[in-house]
Amino acid sequence: MKVKNICCIGAGYVGGPTMAIIAQKSPEITVTVVDINEKRIAAWNDPDVEQIPIYEPGLSEVVAEARGRNLFFSTDVDAAIDAADMIFISVNTPTKTYGMGKGMAADLKYIELCARQIARVAKNDKIIVEKSTLPVRTAEALKRILDNTGNGVNFQILSNPEFLAEGTAVTDLHKPDRVLIGGDLDSEKGREAIQALVDVYAHWVTPDNILTTNVWSSELSKLTANAFLAQRVSSINAMSELCEVTEADVQEVAKAIGMDSRIGPKFLKASVGFGGSCFQKDILNLVYIAKSFGLNEVADYWEQVILMNDHQKRRFAAKIVKTLFNTVSGKKIALLGWAFKKDTNDTRESAAIYVADYLLNEQAEIVVYDPKVTQEQILADLDYLGTRSEEENRKLITVVNTAEAACAEAHAVAVMTEWDEFKTLDWEAIYTHMLKPAFLFDGRRLLDKEALTDLGFEFYAIGS
Ligand code: NAD
Ligand code: UGA
Repeated sequence: MKVKNICCIGAGYVGGPTMAIIAQKSPEITVTVVDINEKRIAAWNDPDVEQIPIYEPGLSEVVAEARGRNLFFSTDVDAAIDAADMIFISVNTPTKTYGMGKGMAADLKYIELCARQIARVAKNDKIIVEKSTLPVRTAEALKRILDNTGNGVNFQILSNPEFLAEGTAVTDLHKPDRVLIGGDLDSEKGREAIQALVDVYAHWVTPDNILTTNVWSSELSKLTANAFLAQRVSSINAMSELCEVTEADVQEVAKAIGMDSRIGPKFLKASVGFGGSCFQKDILNLVYIAKSFGLNEVADYWEQVILMNDHQKRRFAAKIVKTLFNTVSGKKIALLGWAFKKDTNDTRESAAIYVADYLLNEQAEIVVYDPKVTQEQILADLDYLGTRSEEENRKLITVVNTAEAACAEAHAVAVMTEWDEFKTLDWEAIYTHMLKPAFLFDGRRLLDKEALTDLGFEFYAIGS
């Protein structure tokens, strides 16, 4: 079967970019991305393609090429489901904030709503593709909902987890390390569905890089990949603390171990802590699944990755307070960067949020500059924590348009996100306009310690 019409439910960080690339590479397939969020869809349709709701290097060019040709964004979910022969579900699966599994399990209510909507609308056979990251065996629940509430049509369910990282989504999608497709390998219809999705990716991905497995392996591989990646960051961050008390340097240690081909050099960058919408959520979900099978040792093992990450964020903030003579009350502290990593405007679970919150509890005055994150977002992130009133947050935090403005008259500057532009700031001028001693905390190992110390900064970098 050749897929001619694709619908994707969810126009977020995954649905938007993945569908833009499928449309770009497969001009004969009509791709419609739908969402209930009208504002988001309007932004995807903005005539000025630079205004699309997600900032990713290279994405606006891809959208400009395909939008209106075979890529469409719409709020008419029913119509898109009806027209499609393949439906991707790419809605959010956040950590539950209520009831059983609160704070750990993935909240699957949006997934279930999609399944019920598809079942209600579908009048012919459809292939359903899980694009969202889901607990292992979710496909089973989806199948039961679809088969029991549908109109007697046949649904094949595939798992096709997404491995793109934000900030590099377009290159990751153009040249994926692998595409993973899980399906029912034991039935003819299942194998046909798998082949249909393989054919979509085969427009630009070489067959060797398209891996097919059973559904459960595919679902679990996604959680496993994120757990392993986050574990590497927590492992190197654990070493960063040990480096700081032993005069070892974490960057030298990372290089030395990374040259062992069994370990490899990537993902060994010590930091103020990993953020992003997925690492924490997916590990908590893994921990919850392990616990629900009674595998307590497995659960505890993975939970430690999160505990270490929480410790790293707290430790960085505490270091600032301690270094500033044990008080930051009334002191201006500039945070450079708010996004959870460079080249994205996404701030979900960003370490900056937690460091700012800690410093605000110590009555610091925080000034933030991030090249891509709006004031509205920064305040919303802090309000969401609920630590203090919205008025207080607005009194204590200021958002400015340049790094220089953030640092002027500050007691301390902390680099929270590794934006390239921070490397080439006029640090000499910044030093001149800061209060003395001028403290600089590099949470990303971005800056040149020697050069900045020579300028007069009291310089602290994670892991040295
Ligand atoms: P997101 O919050 O940016 O986007 C999800 C969108 O789904 C939202 O716009 C929301 O309005 C929409 N939605 C929710 N319910 C809907 C419904 N019933 N009908 C129509 N639209 C609905 O989330 P995201 O970052 O794109 O993540 C989506 C999934 O992909 C998650 O499971 C996540 O774990 C996974 N994932 C994310 C990334 C990433 O880099 N962000 C990478 C790989 C996998
Ligand atoms: C991560 C994975 O890399 C993707 O493969 C996956 O698809 C995605 O999660 C997901 O499931 O959502 P992402 O969170 O976008 O992607 O970005 P990463 O590059 O993985 O960075 C995550 C966090 O770890 C960032 O805060 C980053 O600064 C931090 N990090 C990363 C480090 O501190 N050190 C490193 O060496 C690498």
